[in-house]
Amino acid sequence: MPMQPDPTFTELTTERLSLRRSLPGDAAAISRYRSDPDVHVHQGWGHTDPDTVRTDIEEMTTRAPGTPGGWVQFSVLRRDDGVLVGDVGLSPAEGEPKVIKVGYTMAPEHQGQGYATEAVEALVGYAFEVLAADIVRAYAGADNAPSIRIMEKVGMRLMERFEGEEDGERWTGVRYERSRPTT
Ligand SMILES: CC(C)(COP(=O)(O)OP(=O)(O)OC[C@H]1O[C@@H](n2cnc3c(N)ncnc32)[C@H](O)[C@@H]1OP(=O)(O)O)[C@@H](O)C(=O)NCCC(=O)NCCS
Repeated sequence: MPMQPDPTFTELTTERLSLRRSLPGDAAAISRYRSDPDVHVHQGWGHTDPDTVRTDIEEMTTRAPGTPGGWVQFSVLRRDDGVLVGDVGLSPAEGEPKVIKVGYTMAPEHQGQGYATEAVEALVGYAFEVLAADIVRAYAGADNAPSIRIMEKVGMRLMERFEGEEDGERWTGVRYERSRPTT
């Protein structure tokens, strides 16, 4: 059975957080922390100015979670005060119908409180239970210790270390995965 796109998605909630589709009005907040050099260095996004972020959000809005062809982004809001603390995303892997990739970013002032782990845990559960994915996958630079810690805390395991090259610079990446729990 292929992955099941979820056009009726509204929200995922955890103890402290709410994950909803990113809206164009989130662009300024997301642009601010994604433009922080310490955050930007770990991300694939080339441009993080508010207009580009808004355009990217509008493009992603056309896609239901689980639909191949690109990322769907969710803004992560703290439930008690509605503050946007970060964003997470899902993207089906190209050519691998039952594999979905997760991504995550927290604003620097909201890091270190377990928010990313809590949000990614919810996303992993959603990918297995609602989208019927068989494998949830994440990539990071091999030196991105907080990101790798999150992968481990949500039950992913190291599958591969690989060498890449970007702008003439060599770097080492890691691929982590978790398989659908057997019932
Ligand atoms: C990675 C990121 C999302 C983590 O967000 P967060 O909300 O701070 O994460 P959490 O608090 O849930 O967990 C972080 C874990 O990393 C650990 N950690 C933080 N810095 C660390 C370091 N330098 N070395 C080892 N572990 C570290 C924390 O102790 C915590 O683990 P613990 O609960 O076992 O103590 C955030 O740092 C970020 O946005 N970074 C920039 C973007 C990025 O790298 N995204 C991922 C791309 S693959």
